[in-house]
Amino acid sequence: MKFFVDTADTDAIRELAETGLVDGVTTNPSLINKSGRDIIEVTREICEIVDGPVSAEVVATTHDEMMREAEVLRKIADNIAIKVPLTIDGLKTCKKLTGDGTMVNVTLCFTANQALLAGKAGASFISPFVGRHDDIGYDGMNLISEIRMIYDNYDFPTEILVASIRHPIHVLESAKIGADVATMPPEVILKLFNHPLTKSGLDAFLADWEKTGQTIG
Ligand code: G3P
Repeated sequence: MKFFVDTADTDAIRELAETGLVDGVTTNPSLINKSGRDIIEVTREICEIVDGPVSAEVVATTHDEMMREAEVLRKIADNIAIKVPLTIDGLKTCKKLTGDGTMVNVTLCFTANQALLAGKAGASFISPFVGRHDDIGYDGMNLISEIRMIYDNYDFPTEILVASIRHPIHVLESAKIGADVATMPPEVILKLFNHPLTKSGLDAFLADWEKTGQTIG
């Protein structure tokens, strides 16, 4: 499973990238706003930190304008994936861009039928939002299962990029289902490392090692 970081905070991306566990980055207009930075400048910096796919989202709503914005965004770096919303114009743009060899991440997916459309449109990635489903009392993980089944039924190459992840259980369940990518806020990635027995066990090892009076090397 690939891990993408869902943020435009370059300090957080840089720190996590040093673990060697970061395979890409996703941003969106809200995350760009939160960064307080120019989209081109911050996206370029992210592309310099992470070699994997970096999603940069268009904000236009018509196909022609999406194509124009995509031209600007994809010039930033070779690892740019253009993010488009799951709308008729978004999928028209997806079809055109992927036909030209550009990676496309179709975002704001909330149903398996939407994901089916994105697969037919040749999307490189589909971003079903599990957390926002959970937020209104629906089972976001069921959506991931349905998409996995449909994509496997028809051998769609589109990668399932689970988005709107709120906690480690979303990551665990996505991996059990066989999603290709999980994109998550930095704090969720950090939580994946944590278990109280790991900490107490290490503390006990180090305390006992201290008693030996030894050093290694
Ligand atoms: O960036 C796409 C998605 O991960 C955003 O999720 O629900 O936390 O805004 P959310």
